[in-house]
Amino acid sequence: MSGLYWSPIEGLQIAMDGPSGSGKGTVAKLVGEELGLPVLDTGLLYRFAGWQTRQAAADLSDEAAVLEVLGGVLPKMNWRVEGIFFESNDCTSLLRGEDVGGLASQVAHYPKVRELLLDVQRNIALSGCVMDGRDIGTVVLPDAHAKFFLTASQRERARRRWAQLHVKDKELSIEQVADELMARDERDAGRECAPLERAEGAIQVDSTTMRVDEVVDRILAILERKNLIQAV
Ligand code: DC
Repeated sequence: MSGLYWSPIEGLQIAMDGPSGSGKGTVAKLVGEELGLPVLDTGLLYRFAGWQTRQAAADLSDEAAVLEVLGGVLPKMNWRVEGIFFESNDCTSLLRGEDVGGLASQVAHYPKVRELLLDVQRNIALSGCVMDGRDIGTVVLPDAHAKFFLTASQRERARRRWAQLHVKDKELSIEQVADELMARDERDAGRECAPLERAEGAIQVDSTTMRVDEVVDRILAILERKNLIQAV
């Protein structure tokens, strides 16, 4: 990366959307570090919602049941830059698995669940951030100063997810990961409420053949051209 120090405009909000495995989480983290901005992974919120619904043995296909679970657990949840805390315990690592990603995607298509999580996301973004998810540029922060839509080929996205998950599960094959990823993509892009889609004005970056540092540099260059950050 550039090795420069950057100064962002006050309250800079950067929306970073894209499908699973597009690299948006890693890129958001590095861009946030470069700019000294908090990085907020909204997928964790939906993961928490799916995980808690399963913990409560509630019916994932029943919106009212999911809402009832969330009504009980959200007041005891604390979402910080470091992750999600429940009753003061850091449960972030429990939320990262592919199985929890699937649960998250199932509860994420309920409009009332999304509505419940909307204010949580908007409030935390107020003083500036890099926020990553599926609907940040379209719904959560439609007035974000800059919007990016990260993509990569399906094969490459599956390979990246597999490389992350294989460390813990040696039995896992790329094909298994690819199937799960495709099912999740279809659910996330096909739902009626806040589907995964490129926001108007969002800049698309296809990272299939790019290194992470190249993607970050491209994003920083775009932000500089838009006068949203300045080298100091
Ligand atoms: O980014 P992730 O894999 O942690 O997200 C998990 C699921 O949560 C994803 O399949 C869809 C859902 N999600 C969403 O609907 N809206 C967001 N802003 C973030 C995640």
